[in-house]
Amino acid sequence: MEYKKAHVVSVNEIAPSIYDMLLKAPTISAQAKPGQFICLYSNDSAHLLPRPISICEVFGEHVRLVFRIAGYGTRELSAKKTGDEVTVLGPIGNGYPEIPKDKTVTVVGGGIGIPPMLYLARKLYENGNELNIVLGYRDAGLFLKDAFAGYGKIFVATDDGSVGFHGNVVGLIEAEKLPVETVCACGPMPMLKGLSAYTEANGGTAFISLEERMACGIGACLGCITKTKETDGHSHVRNARICTEGPVFDSKVLDFTGGKR
Ligand SMILES: Cc1cc2nc3c(=O)[nH]c(=O)nc-3n(C[C@H](O)[C@H](O)[C@H](O)COP(=O)(O)OP(=O)(O)OC[C@H]3O[C@@H](n4cnc5c(N)ncnc54)[C@H](O)[C@@H]3O)c2cc1C
Ligand code: FES
Repeated sequence: MEYKKAHVVSVNEIAPSIYDMLLKAPTISAQAKPGQFICLYSNDSAHLLPRPISICEVFGEHVRLVFRIAGYGTRELSAKKTGDEVTVLGPIGNGYPEIPKDKTVTVVGGGIGIPPMLYLARKLYENGNELNIVLGYRDAGLFLKDAFAGYGKIFVATDDGSVGFHGNVVGLIEAEKLPVETVCACGPMPMLKGLSAYTEANGGTAFISLEERMACGIGACLGCITKTKETDGHSHVRNARICTEGPVFDSKVLDFTGGKR
């Protein structure tokens, strides 16, 4: 994989501390699959490690990213201007698997895990899948919700109860009796754990994207390992590298009980 120069087309704040960035990155957009991410490098040599951000959408030669300011790297990205150059690597990771078009899919995004579900929802819709789209927010700042319109039936849960279901996405899925034969999700780890347990208890399969801390982003440092139930072919221990074997996993291969979890 090669480092590439991408060009910033636009950056807009779409909710408090949440930014929508459009990059012109033709070689990435040509290959990107839903659930993959790109690594963006800082211009400040004091910050060597890249910041991984999921691909939210792809339009022609353009890649859309939506991110929340968490620290130095994301703040630097939020301050980019039209025409700025950014060094990027990608697309990285496995992405969501292909799902037969006769399957109804429950697509679940929580918080800053919502962005990658947009590209996935569009691709599944174009594939002919019927979709239930479950979006979990902290409050009434429903960033990206309208972008899902037309792809399936949309359900909203908010932590503070200001819009939609009062509670978390698992509670909503249970209350609405949504099918969980096939679930694709991204969000905070407690949400993914709860959703995986509910899906597996009901005989379904959950493909979950782990947006955990990373370092190199290219499989070299083991800074992103997650515990698995079986040993892996790379290090022969019960570990998987999120950046290389993930970030999307069938929840059944993960061990939520030990290690970094
Ligand atoms: C595969 C993948 C995809 C991602 N996609 C997105 C995305 O689409 N949009 C988005 O907003 N963020 C996404 N993230 C998280 C994003 O990479 C981090 O928020 C970012 O790297 C933080 O860098 P920083 O320099 O701004 O903050 P730092 O100064 O490095 O950290 C600030 C704070 O954020 C915490 N933090 C750092 N990285 C993470 C992380 N990965 N998860 C949770 N907390 C973290 C730190 O512990 C610290 O408390 C993704 C992460 C991964 C691994
Ligand atoms: S971040 Fe270095 S191996 Fe995954």
